[in-house]
Amino acid sequence: MAQTERPVDSEVEVDWPDYRSTRLRHPARPLVVLPGRFADLEGPVFGDDALEPHDDDLTRQHDGEPLGERIIVQGRLLDDEGRPIRKALIEIWQANAAGRYRHDGDRHPAPLDPSFGGAGRRLTDDEGRYRFVTVKPGAYPWGNHENAWRPAHIHFSLFGRLFAQRLVTQMYFPGDPLFEFDPIFQSVRDPRARELMVASFDLGVTQPEWALGYTWDIVLGRGRAATPLDPDA
Ligand SMILES: [Fe+2]
Repeated sequence: MAQTERPVDSEVEVDWPDYRSTRLRHPARPLVVLPGRFADLEGPVFGDDALEPHDDDLTRQHDGEPLGERIIVQGRLLDDEGRPIRKALIEIWQANAAGRYRHDGDRHPAPLDPSFGGAGRRLTDDEGRYRFVTVKPGAYPWGNHENAWRPAHIHFSLFGRLFAQRLVTQMYFPGDPLFEFDPIFQSVRDPRARELMVASFDLGVTQPEWALGYTWDIVLGRGRAATPLDPDA
């Protein structure tokens, strides 16, 4: 992802009626600006002991391998100044290759995959890097409006080192034809900011005879290059 700069006034709209499920839960009053001292308040710290083997490889968490297109998603977690955020917890969740979540609330008539749970996590390394192995999620219908389908995406939750470095967002795949019809993607108004949510296909990350690779860098903070949040978060 290019570190495209965006205007600071292009924050996600908190009132976005096209994203129907947020109508009753978006802030109805002006946002409260926290005192400056909160900017340096340290967040929860997670250690390696919180992780299990294969937490970052969603294709190896069950007895068999999941169906679908195996992919590697990797990148760096950075602050506003481009510095790596080390030992930050990154959690992901996603639909399987058929576009179905392993969740009781998911009524999409697409098959569940007994070899795919759809959740992963890991800590960034000393360079702020992360890497997941998974399968490419499918698009799925979501009932927001007539013929509503979500573009393929992976949900990301990030705990940086500071409380101000908390972010829940979604990563998308390049060239998805559903972008222009998706109210969640479109709720980020600035097209340059939307680009920050789209991973890049990366032949250098792709492994021959095994998996396609994508790179997605994430910027935590309030600056121009910050990755937009998911308005439902
Ligand atoms: Fe989703």
